[in-house]
Amino acid sequence: MTVSDVSSSQRVDDYRARALEHLWVHTAQYNDLAKDDGMLVVESGDGIYVTDNKGDRYIDAMAGLWVVAVGHGRSELADVAKRQIESLAYANPFAYATEPAIDLASKLASLTPEAINKIHFVNSGSEAVEAAIRMAKQYHFNRGERRRTKVISRIGSYHGTTAMAMTVNGSNYINKKPFEPLMPGVIHVENINCARCPFEKTYPECEVFCARHIEDEIKFQDPATIAAIIAEPISTSNGNWAPQQEYWTTLREICDRHGVLIIADEVINGFGRTGKWFGIQHYPVQPDIMTVAKGISSGYAPIAAAMATQEVADAFVGERADSFAGGITWGAHPVSCAVALANVEIIERERLVENSARVGEHLAAQLTELQKRHKVVSDTRGIGLMHSVELKRDPEAGVDFTEDDKVGELMPRLLKEQGLLARAGASISVAPPLVINREEVDALVDGIDVAIGNLERELGIG
Ligand SMILES: Cc1ncc(COP(=O)(O)O)c(C=O)c1O
Repeated sequence: MTVSDVSSSQRVDDYRARALEHLWVHTAQYNDLAKDDGMLVVESGDGIYVTDNKGDRYIDAMAGLWVVAVGHGRSELADVAKRQIESLAYANPFAYATEPAIDLASKLASLTPEAINKIHFVNSGSEAVEAAIRMAKQYHFNRGERRRTKVISRIGSYHGTTAMAMTVNGSNYINKKPFEPLMPGVIHVENINCARCPFEKTYPECEVFCARHIEDEIKFQDPATIAAIIAEPISTSNGNWAPQQEYWTTLREICDRHGVLIIADEVINGFGRTGKWFGIQHYPVQPDIMTVAKGISSGYAPIAAAMATQEVADAFVGERADSFAGGITWGAHPVSCAVALANVEIIERERLVENSARVGEHLAAQLTELQKRHKVVSDTRGIGLMHSVELKRDPEAGVDFTEDDKVGELMPRLLKEQGLLARAGASISVAPPLVINREEVDALVDGIDVAIGNLERELGIG
């Protein structure tokens, strides 16, 4: 061992110790991070790869957290940030506009479904969800429909961790219990998932009952009390199940019939992840409000948005009291807006939405092969570059893993051993940066293949 090896390993140890002492890592369990190999300190990135501070290089199989569309290490985006900071780092978003915010808003209005025209910038997906819900409620309030305060959400869907976003969450990823009672007036309805239909029906005989039953709930609650429904066009947290066309057309018809706004949560779906600019563009419907985050800047700067139709925005034009009750100090941050615009221009210039659709088909085909090779693979599902590999102890008998199998711990470790960073348990999320090519997809799927084989060996399944 050379002197520089020693100092570099001391540096790694020192960072690990200080991370455990001072850094509160989001949602991760301290006891997991404190295990020998539990703390990974990411240091640099290029393309689809990231490298930790030990020098180990991994494929970023989750694009961070469905974020890094254009890949890591784009110095062009650093140059844009530098230029904007030198020119103007900040302006009060409660009172003024900036050119980067205007440029980004105009660009988004040109890419989103035609009806979407007015863009309100915030900093995170959760804030975008909060803003969208407030927009929906105040839209009805300003129009005199003051009882329309309830929000419908779907079981299995994730929408964030701030108070309102956490309330509408229907996924059990976050433990809501310590914070209850949460926001009143949120109603959870069943989601769409033809692999595990909550109504035990089969498509097409079901005539998308999963959409139709929402009308019963609206009627039961009294339509005059419902402000909006929030739903991901294609829900990742609910298993990457792409709804049939009739799901969204039926939901749109129901909402129109009862004056309920649709908030399409595009925080993951947006910016090419599903092979179109936005997930809702797979369907012949337009939402009233959309939320975006993640891919909007590929993570090069924190920014998100709630985006509304002109009809929604018009309800806020009038007296001062009619103005949208939404405002945060970092909203429409000029540096984030400039970086996001440059990021969107890269997605456009390099045709990454098309790449997501094309390479995504190859990824889907490769993942399907895994099901033939491994007993534990029960299903592979997804669209564009947003997929999941579903695992069960015995798919044929419908038997899930037991707590003792500890797949939540095993799977991430086994993938890491193959040079893959991914979110994994009984479901492996596969959502690499949109710049990935076919050869890189093959390397990624090879790694998953070996890791699943090792899982079967470790659990004695074969
Ligand atoms: C669909 C959806 N909505 C909202 C959010 C919340 O976004 P953020 O973590 O940026 O607050 C997420 C986060 O993953 C998400 O997946």
